[in-house]
Amino acid sequence: MTTQARSGRVLVIIPTYNELENLPLILRRLRAAEPDAHVLVADDNSPDGTGRLADELAAGDPNVHVLHREGKQGLGAAYIAGFHWGLEHGYDVIVEMDADGSHPPEQLPDLLDRIDAGADLAIGSRYVPGGSSVNWPKRRQLLSKGANTYVALALNLHVKDSTAGFRAFRRTTLEKIDLDDVDSQGYCFQVDLTMRAIRRGLRVDEVPITFVEREHGTSKMDQAIVVEALWRVTRWGVRYRTTQVSRQARRAAERTPGPGSPADSEVDSRVDSQVDRELETGRGDDPAG
Ligand code: GDD
Ligand code: MN
Repeated sequence: MTTQARSGRVLVIIPTYNELENLPLILRRLRAAEPDAHVLVADDNSPDGTGRLADELAAGDPNVHVLHREGKQGLGAAYIAGFHWGLEHGYDVIVEMDADGSHPPEQLPDLLDRIDAGADLAIGSRYVPGGSSVNWPKRRQLLSKGANTYVALALNLHVKDSTAGFRAFRRTTLEKIDLDDVDSQGYCFQVDLTMRAIRRGLRVDEVPITFVEREHGTSKMDQAIVVEALWRVTRWGVRYRTTQVSRQARRAAERTPGPGSPADSEVDSRVDSQVDRELETGRGDDPAG
């Protein structure tokens, strides 16, 4: 797990809302684990002064940057703003990482290695062999497992940890997934981006990580975040199923038996790419189609 020269410039986005105690600790660990990576702290005007502390830390380290946002607008919105900042500033790989130590910076090189090996999105996963959660309350573990099972079934995603918040994106991945029409606010933002990457046919790899529950401060998870995730995933799931049915119907309708007509497989792939294109365009917040 030593640091080697990366194939591109790396930006780690750390969203913060009241992470005063955690921020200096996580920055120190991150700078040690991946010294060449730049950092963008995306702070939602934390009442505890995390934003001011971030400015102080940035003043002493040219690789640390701060994005000040007006107020608490949710994890998804903070990341979207951070992604735009990273793309505008020319980074090649953009990483999501919590401020509270749940995502060990020491495991970031594993994610980046996977990107270097060709993944478009590398997800730090608790639910692949070698991954785990430490000190997580039973209630959160059940919620997380349940959410991942529901997501996999409803959306037909072959990803074990689609809600995970420790991940690395190749810049081209972010460019392909229409960031401007993502409006998931809370943690289902993670599911949204996972689904978008998969529906675009991108390579999504899971890398085992150890998720460690925070020691300082409190989680921002609340009931509204769970409810948002539930209704969005359900809607995406219904839309996905409906599209699959119409895909089959159109495949059948466009097949023309007889000599000289195109092979079924040719017709199918033409219909598939039409349907995929329709899914990609004009669906507002509904990337699953
Ligand atoms: N700027 C900003 N605005 N940051 C936020 C906001 C917000 O509205 N809400 C949360 N954060 C920051 C926190 O300060 C922390 O750095 C990070 O986002 C994660 O927040 P936590 O509140 O610690 O999340 P969690 O531990 O409950 O959930 C984690 O695990 C989930 C999967 O089980 C996160 O990694 C989630 O993204 C993930 O889905
Ligand atoms: Mn946390």
